[in-house]
Amino acid sequence: MQRRTLLQRAFAALLLPAVAAKAAPAAPGAKGALPVIEVYKSESCGCCHLWVDHLRANGFTVKATDVPDPSAYRKKHGVPEALGSCHTGVVAGYALEGHVPAAEVKRLLAERPKARGLAVPGMPMGSPGMEGSRKDSYDVLLIEADGRSRVYRHYGA
Ligand code: CU
Ligand code: CU
Repeated sequence: MQRRTLLQRAFAALLLPAVAAKAAPAAPGAKGALPVIEVYKSESCGCCHLWVDHLRANGFTVKATDVPDPSAYRKKHGVPEALGSCHTGVVAGYALEGHVPAAEVKRLLAERPKARGLAVPGMPMGSPGMEGSRKDSYDVLLIEADGRSRVYRHYGA
């Protein structure tokens, strides 16, 4: 009996820190705190799903949908045609056009600018999901509320 009580106490002492750690609030930017990204892409595109993999590897939950005409989603979410790429994502009301790095999506969600979203026009080699033999420099653009855009971050080759 005595021995059993001691064992129970020992177990309780072992378990307590685990319970306390679990109850602690999630740090900002922790996995559970990231909003879902919806992605509209064409079924045949190989690089789209590699971008989705990149987002997931960086802690995002992604809901990807194959659509016959991704450009319709570009238009719907305010991405100028000139900034178009192969897929359009939507997160917390922002558009994500093309191979936008997860780091810039997190920055966007932290800064919450008055803007339509981010775009990496075209499909630059070396951007997330477009890794290959070559690495080009490219810009992540912020699409402002009025549709104009400016460089949000430059990625060097
Ligand atoms: Cu692509
Ligand atoms: Cu794509």
